[in-house]
Amino acid sequence: MIKLKGWLPLVALIATTIGKPQNGNLAPNSDFKGLSFDNIEWAKATSRASKFVAQLTLDEKIGIVTGNASNLQGCIGNIDAVPRLNFQGICMMDGPQGINRAESVSVFPSGITMGATWDTSLIYQRGMAMAKEFKGKGAHVMLGPVSGPLGRNALGGRNWEGFAADPYLTGLAMSASIAGAQSVGVQTSSKHFIGNEQETQRTRTTSIDGSIVEAVSSNIDDRTLHELYLWPFVDAVRAGTTSIMCSYNRVNQEYACANERLLTDILRDEIGFRGYVVSDWYATHSTLATANAGLDLEMPGVSLAQDPTYFGDALLGAVSAGNVTQSRLDDMATRVLTPYYLLEQDNDYPTVDPASIYNYVFQEVGWDSPYIPLLLPLLGDKEPPAGRDVRGDHASLIRKIGAAGSVLLKNEGGILPLSASTTMNIGVFGNDAGDPTDGLTALLTDDPLGFEYGTLDIGGGSGTGRHSNLVSPLNAIKERIANTGGKVQYLLSNSIISENNFRTIYPRPDVCLVFLKTYAAETYDRASFEADWNSTQVVTNVANFCNNTIVVTHSAGINTMPWSNHTNVKAIIAAHLPGEETGNAIVDVLWGEVEPSGRLPYTVPKSAADYGIPITNLTGQDVGRYGWQANFTEGLMIDYRHFDAFDIEPLFPFGFGLSYTTFEMATPATFTSLVPSGSLTPTPDAAVEIQPGGNPELWSTLITGTVAVRNTGTRAGATVVQLYMSYPKSSVPDGTPLRVLRGFQKVYLEPGAESVVLFNLTRRDVSFWDVDAQSWRVPEGELGFYAGFNSRELVQNATLILL
Ligand SMILES: *[C@@H]1O[C@H](CO)[C@@H](O)[C@H](O)[C@H]1NC(C)=O
Ligand SMILES: *[C@@H]1O[C@H](CO)[C@@H](O)[C@H](O)[C@H]1NC(C)=O
Ligand SMILES: *[C@@H]1O[C@H](CO)[C@@H](O)[C@H](O)[C@H]1NC(C)=O
Ligand SMILES: *[C@@H]1O[C@H](CO)[C@@H](O)[C@H](O)[C@H]1NC(C)=O
Ligand SMILES: *[C@@H]1O[C@H](CO)[C@@H](O)[C@H](O)[C@H]1NC(C)=O
Ligand SMILES: *[C@@H]1O[C@H](CO)[C@@H](O)[C@H](O)[C@H]1NC(C)=O
Ligand SMILES: *[C@@H]1O[C@H](CO)[C@@H](O)[C@H](O)[C@H]1NC(C)=O
Ligand SMILES: *[C@@H]1O[C@H](CO)[C@@H](O)[C@H](O)[C@H]1NC(C)=O
Ligand SMILES: *[C@@H]1O[C@H](CO)[C@@H](O)[C@H](O)[C@H]1NC(C)=O
Repeated sequence: MIKLKGWLPLVALIATTIGKPQNGNLAPNSDFKGLSFDNIEWAKATSRASKFVAQLTLDEKIGIVTGNASNLQGCIGNIDAVPRLNFQGICMMDGPQGINRAESVSVFPSGITMGATWDTSLIYQRGMAMAKEFKGKGAHVMLGPVSGPLGRNALGGRNWEGFAADPYLTGLAMSASIAGAQSVGVQTSSKHFIGNEQETQRTRTTSIDGSIVEAVSSNIDDRTLHELYLWPFVDAVRAGTTSIMCSYNRVNQEYACANERLLTDILRDEIGFRGYVVSDWYATHSTLATANAGLDLEMPGVSLAQDPTYFGDALLGAVSAGNVTQSRLDDMATRVLTPYYLLEQDNDYPTVDPASIYNYVFQEVGWDSPYIPLLLPLLGDKEPPAGRDVRGDHASLIRKIGAAGSVLLKNEGGILPLSASTTMNIGVFGNDAGDPTDGLTALLTDDPLGFEYGTLDIGGGSGTGRHSNLVSPLNAIKERIANTGGKVQYLLSNSIISENNFRTIYPRPDVCLVFLKTYAAETYDRASFEADWNSTQVVTNVANFCNNTIVVTHSAGINTMPWSNHTNVKAIIAAHLPGEETGNAIVDVLWGEVEPSGRLPYTVPKSAADYGIPITNLTGQDVGRYGWQANFTEGLMIDYRHFDAFDIEPLFPFGFGLSYTTFEMATPATFTSLVPSGSLTPTPDAAVEIQPGGNPELWSTLITGTVAVRNTGTRAGATVVQLYMSYPKSSVPDGTPLRVLRGFQKVYLEPGAESVVLFNLTRRDVSFWDVDAQSWRVPEGELGFYAGFNSRELVQNATLILL
């Protein structure tokens, strides 16, 4: 039975009365091209890979499933060539925001910036542009995108590599990234699978006395796994991701890379993944337990440095002893090679840039490396060759995304956009404004604050990048002011600003821009919510000094903003980590050449205590070998779900962001069931053949909705229409969030213009994971739909009963 309830009288008439539905290029609630590759296409590629594997010797098969860290190509991951069969080998490169350890490449906006755009078209374009650079360098595999960490811990050190603290937004971002990248013929490795929500004790360590301490165990219940952490990986598999990287941590006591329930039962059998599982680098700690659980490829594998290798000779021994079967080894090798055929990488793929090995060695060990004199004759070079420049015209896309991912949080008295008259005398403050003084690549890994002087456009660790060009905010502002006759004064020392010493600034500026930064890097979690380098003192002092203070944050994640209330802080922009065009992008927004249209992909709290989930940190405590346990007892209640559950008022809610114009949802939203009365079974038909992404019935549209939006201001601009859904309380288990995001669309409108946004909700969207049935289930009762501009500004609602 379908019952339409609520206050909606004129279901069908709405669309005709207020104009044509706007589809844009965003396709909310549906994925990009639907299924990128179906079972038949995968089967064809598998068959080609299988024929190839049949020609390999046992040693060669072992070579396919074990990386070679001593390979001299300069890729972070290498699979050896098999020249007698004309196979050139596989090159893998970091990381999720462009190629790391390479020259003449672009530094793209980070994942969190992409999440803040809420624009799957831009995410697709970034995926494509990055993949062109990987391909240009001869890399077959891009190690990304990232949907783990998802953002359970607000201070997680790698959250900026992922997209959003929400599975739905992250899932669409994964699909778009993968579809974009793989359209160029580059493989993606979706990572880190799964529960890699903190960096602290993320992997096994050995103490000075030789005793082993195992990685933190992320203890996640089955429902939370399915509805939160697995959700975006399902989108990734459906979008055709060719590889999944298992993570460092343990999950429910087993290492993720040795976890049969995860790698076989869920990944292969339940969600239909047909590619290969690769271990995160050095995340393999056993031979049988990993190979038999479903790990297909060990990285980085064998090396001259004798790092422990659990595949290679050890796997050979296990196969010879019958502890790993021949057919499992064949399956592993076939899976590793299937994507190579699926994406036709056997057909004229570029060779690895000969400069890559030098880039790699220089970045890892420096100019004085003893390897350089050894490498030159070995590779037949007299000096390191120039690297291929693969940047193309990507700077313009990076600039556009940087602006689109900037979130305007406050704009009092319409101080923004700046105009020629307000910027005759401008002040720029803070150590994030200028060019870096320590070089253009963040090499530091041992300082949780990163480098002191210079703008932060990307985080640290394997996901960082080597800049060929970096436009700092200060330079871009000076250039913007140059022909206007205006003046730019600046003070970049946060210590001097902290001391309230403004003697070098005269006359007092009309407008003061403060640039703050918050660093984060792989291997560390952040220790504090506040922006780094005395940020609160810096903003307070500048604001006391300057009536029109505008704060811009370049941050790897969630910050508290204790200064947000200061009467002289007139505007705040969270500009995230926008990549190499950061200065131009923020100038575009500040001067209104681009409308701010970013929205928060997380919640900004009033105080740190509002986030209830601390990093598990037992550092320095003797808790024994297996003592690190992170119990995900909050279940589904992360980020806005947590704030809703505990009725905590955020400083700025999830999904929030201002524009220079204003928007209204003027007419009632409508929601219609597409399921004929009585025809819907609560769980999908178990007999249906699983496709990549799982049971295909989960992807059928059950409900369509329309929401009308109008630009009520005087400027053209974009907003993001957001749709949240509530479950019927009585028929879902405890621990169900008040509301979950189930649709969004960025809409650009001229002043006065209206548009109707279409939402399609799939069976998965309206189901919960029934642990007993081990299936998605449509709950009985009333589903609530809430449309609005952020998770706390929901201006339209309706209810609908399925079944
Ligand atoms: C929504 O679903 C309907 C019915 O399946 C389909 O015709 C339409 O193209 C979909 N629209 C979008 C924007 O995905
Ligand atoms: C790894 O690469 C090195 C350098 O190319 C080569 O000498 C070695 O044979 C390769 N394979 C193994 C298993 O080490
Ligand atoms: C490997 O297989 C042999 C023979 O079946 C068995 O005796 C041995 O215990 C196995 N080793 C491991 C580590 O499972
Ligand atoms: C974890 O605890 C150690 C020791 O108390 C401390 O040094 C470190 O900063 C903590 N890490 C985080 C992320 O808070
Ligand atoms: C903060 O400011 C004080 C001076 O007020 C200075 O001594 C200190 O070094 C600053 N700390 C940082 C991290 O900049
Ligand atoms: C700052 O604001 C105060 C109080 O509104 C006003 O008296 C003063 O003139 C302003 N100063 C500047 C430089 O605008
Ligand atoms: C802003 O000020 C109000 C009262 O003026 C206070 O309740 C609130 O906590 C302040 N917010 C922050 C983030 O300090
Ligand atoms: C985590 O859960 C385990 C198993 O239920 C329990 O033994 C342990 O005490 C819990 N740890 C913490 C820190 O709550
Ligand atoms: C739904 O919208 C109606 C009409 O605007 C409003 O009165 C009601 O409070 C809303 N309900 C919820 C749960 O937001």
